[in-house]
Amino acid sequence: MTNSMFDLISEQDEDRPYFATGGRGRTHAFYTGEEQFRLEMERVYGKKWLPVDHVSRFPEKGSYATLNIGSGSILLLNGDNGIQAYHNYCRHRGYKLVEEPAGKRQSIVCIYHCWVYDRNGKLKSLNGTYLDHFFAKEDNGLIPVRTEVRFGVVFVAFSDEAGDLDEALGEFGRFAEVYDLESLVCAQAKDYPVASNWKLVAHNVNESLHFPTAHKDLHKITDFDDAGTYELRGDIVGAWQVIRSKYNSVSMTGRSDRAPMPKVPPGDLHKINWITILPNLLFGFTADYVMMQWVWPESPGTCTVRHFWLFHPSETAKPDFSHEAVFALWDKANYEDWELCERTHRGLSNPMWSPGQLSLDEEVVSQIDEWVARLTQPGQTAPEQTGAGVTGTGAARS
Ligand code: FES
Ligand SMILES: [Fe+2]
Repeated sequence: MTNSMFDLISEQDEDRPYFATGGRGRTHAFYTGEEQFRLEMERVYGKKWLPVDHVSRFPEKGSYATLNIGSGSILLLNGDNGIQAYHNYCRHRGYKLVEEPAGKRQSIVCIYHCWVYDRNGKLKSLNGTYLDHFFAKEDNGLIPVRTEVRFGVVFVAFSDEAGDLDEALGEFGRFAEVYDLESLVCAQAKDYPVASNWKLVAHNVNESLHFPTAHKDLHKITDFDDAGTYELRGDIVGAWQVIRSKYNSVSMTGRSDRAPMPKVPPGDLHKINWITILPNLLFGFTADYVMMQWVWPESPGTCTVRHFWLFHPSETAKPDFSHEAVFALWDKANYEDWELCERTHRGLSNPMWSPGQLSLDEEVVSQIDEWVARLTQPGQTAPEQTGAGVTGTGAARS
């Protein structure tokens, strides 16, 4: 591709080791083990900045969203000082306060014994427990979780050692700015429970090698064979893929009257830029919309995916705006993907699983595993890379 805004960062160093050897998958324990899961909760999800939502989902004071992480849950609330995350449980006896994925409330009422919190997380009444006379309400508000917003994405961190968020985001801002991420509007969000390890979902959404076998609609519109991997600075990974020339939108119809986003350069009008903020937030940046999808682990063998469909406000404001064809494509593709992930998880659950060779089109799979392994298994060496069977069928065509 030429004229891409991202040419500079898409130039690939073909001398780097992956091009000589490819990569290998990892072990049964890495994908399915309880101990690996515990380490990931402690060292990845417990320590890093984690992308959780988009600002457009909190349009008014009192707008909220929830998500479950491992055995915990957080509540994001748009209060008087902006969006703030809290642990989603009542300070009285631990009742999980909000189960709904999103909505709007000015007070959070615990329906166990009726403690009531305001939209800033403050405990404002103790109805029913008659504790007011000897109890300091100001010490018993919801417990806040560190919260930051960058490029319209809300991030949380459970640790004071989470590091510098801007440094972790590296070159992500270049994509976010070109696609106006901060101003986009979320037309819809949908949750999907998946019975597989979260890393298998992260792998799946980051490679297009399976498009011809799994997604006939996507394969018709995008070319899995005209694709490549970016080398990006920061805790991010990415790849690009070409949209076939007779189409202009990645949707069920392949066509859209939506104007391309104003800052997208000509070389990216027929391209999807797949960018993942590690560990778990995938973006598919296209000229007429952005898909955003996170995966949150709940146990070694279960996770939830939340898919967000984001459009430019100049399009969502039009009376005839419809995201139906885009939603239909991804909703179908998502179910196709979860079946692949769940069945892969069932295969890998065999303790006799022995890791196989990854192709050059699966470099991001290897990068994700390596990043997680670096944080959870310091001191252990990377899996042996042999290069056997690598045919060079893929990345870096331009
Ligand atoms: S657990 Fe919430 S009021 Fe008792
Ligand atoms: Fe897929």
